[in-house]
Amino acid sequence: MIERPMASCHDTIVILDFGSQYTQLIARRVRESRVHSLLLPASASLETIRSNQPKGIILSGGPASVTGARRPKWSKDVLNEGVPVLGICYGMQVVAHALGGRVGRATQREFGRAQLLVQDGSDLLKGLDTHDPFSVWMSHGDRIETLPPGFTSIARTANSPIAAMKSVNRRHRLYCLQFHPEVAHTTHGAQILQNFVHQICGARPTWTMGSFLKDSIEDVRQTVKGENVLCALSGGVDSMVAAAITHQAIGKRLTCVFIDNGVMRKNEVTQLKKVFRSRHFNYRIVRAADQFLAALGRTSDPEKKRKIIGRQFIKIFESQARTIGTVRYLVQGTLYPDVIESISHQGPSATIKTHHNVGGLPARMKLKLIEPLRELFKDEVRALGKELGLPDEMIQRHPFPGPGLAIRILGAVTPDRLTMLREADAIFIDELNAHGLYGEVWQAFAVLLPIRTVGVMGDQRTYEHVVGLRAVTSVDGMTADWAQLPPSFLAHVSNRIINEVHGVNRVVYDVSSKPPSTIEWE
Ligand code: XMP
Repeated sequence: MIERPMASCHDTIVILDFGSQYTQLIARRVRESRVHSLLLPASASLETIRSNQPKGIILSGGPASVTGARRPKWSKDVLNEGVPVLGICYGMQVVAHALGGRVGRATQREFGRAQLLVQDGSDLLKGLDTHDPFSVWMSHGDRIETLPPGFTSIARTANSPIAAMKSVNRRHRLYCLQFHPEVAHTTHGAQILQNFVHQICGARPTWTMGSFLKDSIEDVRQTVKGENVLCALSGGVDSMVAAAITHQAIGKRLTCVFIDNGVMRKNEVTQLKKVFRSRHFNYRIVRAADQFLAALGRTSDPEKKRKIIGRQFIKIFESQARTIGTVRYLVQGTLYPDVIESISHQGPSATIKTHHNVGGLPARMKLKLIEPLRELFKDEVRALGKELGLPDEMIQRHPFPGPGLAIRILGAVTPDRLTMLREADAIFIDELNAHGLYGEVWQAFAVLLPIRTVGVMGDQRTYEHVVGLRAVTSVDGMTADWAQLPPSFLAHVSNRIINEVHGVNRVVYDVSSKPPSTIEWE
């Protein structure tokens, strides 16, 4: 679904992917400037690139070294196509290397913030407040030692004398940045990309969520033709939006299956049923809690839990598919952060957790995947949900992992522990809603720790379980900060949990950011 030739009514920026974990973020920033972006592998042929009639080309960052053995192949001729090119980080180094500049090992590798001093505030760096240096995000080991002939340096940092450059010959219109304008930490990053997309490339800002929706619906229709389709509904906004898109494309030929795997939150199944009904989905609810819990047994390893749940999930879907007749497709609400954190592309984004709906799919699966949201970030999916007219409480719902409470119970998943966690979690979420804090955080939940601690209740010694509360703020789930919830609120929630949840005598609050921690505890 990624490489979609877009209707010619939109101008397109082609992004060549050299393997950076930020490549999709570039695509997203281009979308935010209301221009259609198309991601292609760095190795895409000139013909493929040309066939999309790009108004400009962006070369992404990447983990390789320009002279290293594992450097990606790419067509250097894109530099002679007459359309503007922007090289970012590794993309800058390949341009410099290809055109006769010298790229060498930086004496000091730069990771994180650096202060950029602009030397030429015309075109690319135009309109920024550049009297003083401003923060940019660096992530590189190599740097440009000597400019290629015909280039001039336009900005510097302490460790990169050539932190940005451009071709002097205006006809070539080649621009390069050593830093990452696409990440939120780069001050003016969005403006720099907009300068490139709008001013330099002249791309018209016509792309909207509405146009994406229309194209996605058409895509699904074209892909599945007259076939029947299954949708794996998880209860979250992602699969619901993916289902709603597919439903608009093929109506009743879509069967939505919701598997109650026994590790859902309190009242979740009832709430979902209401939404399915109101959307007139053709849906089935499969009660499979016993099957999942039996398969999990005493497993405590997080990755094993994910794999077990993933396997059960697919097995049930396959058997559902058999009862519907010939079904070839499965719709899933996979988002971009799930993809990037599950698959180790060409190196940089090492596998952190195998999110079961992507990385854990067994090879034997016989259904082809349709993932209309694979390029998007969470807040873009919410905007899409709004466009589709889904209810607010569904759209604003916090993300919930596919393996559910199983990865929020550290250690073995048992019915008792599930009940404890469910109750504690429900109290936390209820109180966040009651205090108007639910929408202030990206995700909030309770975890059950695999330890017991001593307490005292009514003069009696207790030796019971510990609940951890986690609430984070985030833009896309790829990085996160712990939410600074008011102490009085936390005290109130803690009180309620200890008083109301049988078997819990202690509540702790998680004050870790991602990285180095992750959002979930497992
Ligand atoms: P982490 O814990 O990796 O979570 O910082 C990032 C986001 O992904 C969700 N998550 C998952 N989602 N299957 C999913 O569908 C999984 O196995 C899984 N693990 C984490 C997590 O809730 C957060 O929103």
